[in-house]
Amino acid sequence: MSDPRPNDPATAIRQLTAAIEAQLIEVRRDLHAHPELGFEEVRTAGVVARELTRLGIPHQTGIGKTGVVGMIEGGRPGPVLAIRADMDALPMQEETGLPFASTVPGKMHACGHDIHTTTLLGVAAVLRDLAPQLAGSVKLVFQPAEEGLGGMAAMIADGVMDSPSVDLALGFHNHPDMKVGTFGYVRGPTLAASDRFDIVVRGQGGHAAYPHGSVDPLVAAAMLVAQLQTVVSREVPPLLPAVVTVGAIQGGTTHNIIPDTCVIKGTVRTLHPRARDVAEAAIRRLCAGMREGMRVTCAIEYRRGTPCLMNDDRVIDPSIAAVRAQFGDVVAEGEPSLGGEDFALMAERVPAFQLRIGSAAPGRADRLHNSDYQPDERCIGFGVQALSRAALQLLG
Ligand code: NI
Repeated sequence: MSDPRPNDPATAIRQLTAAIEAQLIEVRRDLHAHPELGFEEVRTAGVVARELTRLGIPHQTGIGKTGVVGMIEGGRPGPVLAIRADMDALPMQEETGLPFASTVPGKMHACGHDIHTTTLLGVAAVLRDLAPQLAGSVKLVFQPAEEGLGGMAAMIADGVMDSPSVDLALGFHNHPDMKVGTFGYVRGPTLAASDRFDIVVRGQGGHAAYPHGSVDPLVAAAMLVAQLQTVVSREVPPLLPAVVTVGAIQGGTTHNIIPDTCVIKGTVRTLHPRARDVAEAAIRRLCAGMREGMRVTCAIEYRRGTPCLMNDDRVIDPSIAAVRAQFGDVVAEGEPSLGGEDFALMAERVPAFQLRIGSAAPGRADRLHNSDYQPDERCIGFGVQALSRAALQLLG
């Protein structure tokens, strides 16, 4: 047995993490058994506040409705680093059969946000002990409502980026497509801008036996859905990734009635502002063209959602160096994804990086948002070490 060497951050972080890992897994299982949907994370925020109080870390609750923000002051002045975790669960039934499975019917932590919340609590505990070594401070951001409900926007509206103002930001997500103990990063655009549209196709209803006396919105809607397939294939520049997906068509009631209207709902995902603009303009034009061609009107409501998440080399490089210094060569460059994530709103304001934390358990092939999702809980300890070391590096 060798004595801990206080000047060796790898050892210090490993030992501090090992000392709390079992306790963190208990917290995670408790959160997992009690999932809460976006902006309803009252119990979860209570657990976070309780743990921060226990650690003696000053914090504020009620930021962005159910968000919690803690502050760790370093031993020397320097920049403010925000580290963000999301807390919300998903509206789906858990099918894992685990002893700590969801006790709430129809709600489940299937995206691992229970893992994220717990990981950030672990980082809080480690960095509290290493605070004298930090040149700057760490803002611990426990965010509600990441799953498309606007939690980050609500926290920003409540001042999470201000007083003290955030200079750089770290995010993270568990990745069941990567082995536990490994890490990943993407340079530049990493997650997509996520926009959505609702189109009401309006014709003129009537008897199905006399179509010539009606204007059929269903046939027009079917044609519009087909035309929307040309937005990506014929209009967006081929080297800019984009997806246009129609996820719902709703119209009509029965066999012998032509309805008045049909509704089309869909999502647009892009990694570059130009692709985003081209796709929106094309969709609007195709809708407008239905009037001349098919005699229907298409009222479109097009809402731009979270922007593309841009990782910044100024945060990536020190963070990746830190992960390598802590664990060795377990980090690889990955590919961008067309999923969306509202950490992008932080990244729009300050240099930021979202670290991918491998969560695949040996022998399993898990997917996020799946009712049988079972991440390897060791990813919590690995995440705590990686993020703590990255904070030490960024505030060195
Ligand atoms: Ni998620």
